This record gives sequence, structure tokens and C-alpha cells, in this order.
Amino acid sequence: MTNISSSIRVCLAGATGWAGSAVAHAIAQLEDITLVSAVSRTHAGKILGDVLGDPRLTCRIYATTEEALTAQPCDVFFEFTKPDVAKSNVLTALEHKAHVVVGTSGLTDSDYAEIASASEKYQRGVLAVGNFALTVVLLQKFAEIAAKFIPQWEIIDYASDAKKDSPSGTVRELANRLSKVRPSELTIPLDKTQGVVETRGARMNGSQVHAIRLPSYVISAEIIFGMPDQKLTIRHDSGTSAEPYVDGSLLAIRKVNTFVGLRRGLDSVLDLS
Ligand SMILES: NC(=O)c1ccc[n+]([C@@H]2O[C@H](COP(=O)([O-])OP(=O)(O)OC[C@H]3O[C@@H](n4cnc5c(N)ncnc54)[C@H](OP(=O)(O)O)[C@@H]3O)[C@@H](O)[C@H]2O)c1
Repeated sequence: MTNISSSIRVCLAGATGWAGSAVAHAIAQLEDITLVSAVSRTHAGKILGDVLGDPRLTCRIYATTEEALTAQPCDVFFEFTKPDVAKSNVLTALEHKAHVVVGTSGLTDSDYAEIASASEKYQRGVLAVGNFALTVVLLQKFAEIAAKFIPQWEIIDYASDAKKDSPSGTVRELANRLSKVRPSELTIPLDKTQGVVETRGARMNGSQVHAIRLPSYVISAEIIFGMPDQKLTIRHDSGTSAEPYVDGSLLAIRKVNTFVGLRRGLDSVLDLS
């Protein structure tokens, strides 16, 4: 029997989705984390366990974050819905004094600036993780090290044709992190490119980013560093299940109340040294 008084109380927005349901099933097995509410429009009013076929998940599903947090206070709000509602969900959760984990992709740097300022105002932690998979956490770290030594790189973002947001949260986070090392150098500046300049990709935070959206991809991210007569390629490929995201999500829930303000990337709460 879970001792709810010492357990971290979580509201999971997107609990019926592909990624959120994997996290919900994992939480059902834990003593130290308890789901106290869930958010999904389609299943509002139902019990999460009835929808996911897991009787251990006894919390109610609400149509909106505001309704869920008003009905059931929580320690941590977990955002795993869609980019169009993610920022407003996060700001609502902060107003309700919850710490926040953001798994949803598609938020911009200016969205994060607003979220950072709200997290300071309400003295809560926000941990935004573009990709919870360990191999992506390592890709980000290795890329930061490589960028210190190699001044030129380009990033390729692969996802399915059905993914609406571009680039992926993984690649947004990678470009954001590399911008803190330095901008990638271009031998031919973009405005001196002859032909169709868009074929050189988009300039994001000092990196050239190319997004591919085709059937059969899940999420892959590749960064190529080039020097005269040598190249280094670092690449992550997801499989088709949401399993790789579960352990990182649980770690984020356990760590997000240990700081105030916005942190981006799972390694910000991990010791990778
Ligand atoms: N950070 C990571 O490691 C990671 C890993 C996987 C996915 N993601 C990202 O996480 C997000 C979710 O991905 P997914 O594949 O799980 O999507 P999904 O299967 O479509 O699930 C989306 C979930 O959000 C709910 N939802 C959507 N719009 C909503 C709204 N307006 N109000 C309330 N609930 C809403 C859906 O329920 P209803 O439709 O019933 O409302 C559903 O429960 C995406 O942005 C994806 O890129 C990130």
C-alpha cells in the first residue's frame, strides 16, 4: 500500500498518450511516486486505470490542467501533451505552486524565457527535457565536448511524416546547448550561397539544422562535425516503443523539487562526470 504522505504526488497531462501512458504504467509500480490526477480531453471523467487497463491507477482524468490541479493538489505537474497547449499548462501548474517536468516538444526559446521567469516568481523548479532517453543525454554531452574542439557542424533531425512540430524537441535542445559553446562556422556565409539558400537548412541558435519528415522514422538525431580530411558523426536512433523515455521521466520527477528556476536537459540533474 502506497504511503501517499511521503510519496511525490503527480498530475500527468497526456497520461493516455503514447509517451504519457508508458510513464503512467511505470508509476503504478512505484511506492515513492503516486499519480493523483491525469489530463486528457477524450477520457475526461473516467478513471485512468479503466482507460489504460491497469487497476492500480485509481486517479481521475480531467479535461484541463486547471480542473485537475484545482481538484487535486500535486507536488509535480508532468507535461506530456502537445505543443499548442504545453506552455499554458506549464504556467497554470506554476500558478498552482507545482514543480514542473516538461516532456512535450515544440516550445520555443521565448516560451522558455517566459516559463523561466514564472518559475522564479513562484519559486518552483521546471525541468524541461527534449528527450529523456539515456542515449540522447549522452549525444548532447558528447556534442558539447566536440564543439569545443571542432568549429564546424550541422544537425539533421529525423522524424515521422506525422510529426507536426519541427525541429524536434531533441534538436531544439541540442542547438540551444551548442549555442552556449559557440556558433558553428560557415565557410560560405548563407547570403553568399548560390542557388537555393533553403537547401542549406535553417540557422537555429548558431547551428545549421535540417529536418526530414518521412514514414518509418520515429526520432533520430544526428550531428556531423567536419574538419579538413576528417569527420565525426554522433547519432541517436529511437526504436518504436516509449520505453527509453520512462526511466528519465521518473528521474526528472524525483529531482525537479531540488532547485528553483528553469533547467534544460536531463544531465542538468545527473552527474555525468
Ligand atoms: N521528451 C521526450 O523524451 C519525449 C518522448 C516522447 C514524446 N515526446 C513529446 O511528448 C508529446 C506527446 O507525445 P505523444 O506521442 O505521447 O502524443 P500522443 O500519443 O498524441 O498523446 C498526447 C496526449 O496528450 C493529450 N492531449 C493532447 N492535446 C491536449 C489538450 N489540448 N488538452 C489536454 N490534453 C491533451 C492527449 O489526450 P486527448 O487527445 O484525449 O486530449 C494524450 O493523452 C509530443 O510533443 C512529443 O513530441 C517527448
